[in-house]
Amino acid sequence: MTGSPRRHLILVGLMGAGKTAVGEACARRLERAFVDTDAVIVAAAGVSIAEIFAAEGEDGFRQRERRAVTDACSAAEPAVIACGGGVVVDPDNRRDLRRAGVVVWLTAAAEVLVQRVGAGDGRPLLAVGEPLDALTRLAEEREPHYRRAADTVIDTTGLGIDEVADAAVRALAAEGVARR
Ligand code: S3P
Repeated sequence: MTGSPRRHLILVGLMGAGKTAVGEACARRLERAFVDTDAVIVAAAGVSIAEIFAAEGEDGFRQRERRAVTDACSAAEPAVIACGGGVVVDPDNRRDLRRAGVVVWLTAAAEVLVQRVGAGDGRPLLAVGEPLDALTRLAEEREPHYRRAADTVIDTTGLGIDEVADAAVRALAAEGVARR
């Protein structure tokens, strides 16, 4: 049933929030397709995110990301969409996400995010300086954007992937969206 216009389950949050792992778990539970905007960008470009940043700068990456968000939001079948951490900064992305689905913001303390991302390999925004400093700064800068984009927030600190996925699926149901 696709009665609700806001039908996708959309996960946002900083690097290390668990969007991809939780998104995959949600997709299995809901028997939906899983779309990861980073994976879409990499598949379309044929090179890694680090290589896109190196060749085209962050602006080039954000243009690609904007297209990935538009495509994911307009998919006919309700899906689970995990967004790269910076997607919410663009107001057009925020508008599209809010129209297309229930937006769940996954948070965690910066120290927890750092444990999960390790050395930050493959994430150009963590390549300079200490990951903890970068994540602390990004958390502060982006907090208002996540807040504007999100219908609901889940603090994942101390929770496993399955517990977070359960909470995200409950959030979708609470918004009155059918499973398929
Ligand atoms: C970014 C997060 C990354 C990826 C890119 C930029 C960001 O995605 O899109 O490195 O701006 O926060 P994840 O949040 O999936 O790591």
